[in-house]
Amino acid sequence: QLAAVITVDGPGGSGKGTITQMLARKLGWHLLDSGALYRLTALAAERQGVALDNEPALVVVAAGLDVTFEPTAPGEPTKVLLAGEDVNAAIRTEQCGNNASKVAVMQSVRDALLQRQRDFRKAPGLVADGRDMGTVVFPDAPVKIFLTASAEERAQRRFSQLLQAGVDVSIANVLEEIRVRDERDMNRSAAPLKPADDAQVIDSTGLSIEEVLGRCMAAAGQA
Ligand code: C5P
Repeated sequence: QLAAVITVDGPGGSGKGTITQMLARKLGWHLLDSGALYRLTALAAERQGVALDNEPALVVVAAGLDVTFEPTAPGEPTKVLLAGEDVNAAIRTEQCGNNASKVAVMQSVRDALLQRQRDFRKAPGLVADGRDMGTVVFPDAPVKIFLTASAEERAQRRFSQLLQAGVDVSIANVLEEIRVRDERDMNRSAAPLKPADDAQVIDSTGLSIEEVLGRCMAAAGQA
């Protein structure tokens, strides 16, 4: 008997990270941040001196990732350990996100991470955050959400986060990076970003976090 899964897919900056953490906490379910696995693959490759176009070597890196996800206090992001080292800050940079989207175009790298993602499916249930959770990793999930927002709004959110973190960027730059990453994620042949046929699409443009959470809970039939 497989545990229940709610998949939440969508582009970067759509609020998926925040929403899936809140959903998982509310339901008392496990959480899979699949983007972290692609980010970790990119980071581990960099540290091991593996070029981002060396597909066979990247597969070895992905398959051999020594990663631990440690739960933290409610409301805080899960702590991510790579070979025991806290790499949370290192994997959250724009550059690491960009590199992640480059390794994520490779089918063989995706295959190397597939079972690791499915292993997160445990009782009482799983909230899975990513790009292909509903289409590839958990195609049988009873509840699939596709969370989106306009590129401008996503750029604005990301810009505010970066400002708060003291990073000096321009909104135009952030918007451009979001467009480039969207383009790459949507137009790749391996598991492109798109809503599953049976996904409920929620557009969070102009909505507060609480409103989005309410819609997701309603979609999950738990409202
Ligand atoms: O969601 P996050 O920004 O952490 O994801 C980083 C990158 O990893 C994405 O831009 C995407 O290319 C890739 N990714 C993916 N499939 C997933 C999750 C993330 O291809 N399920």
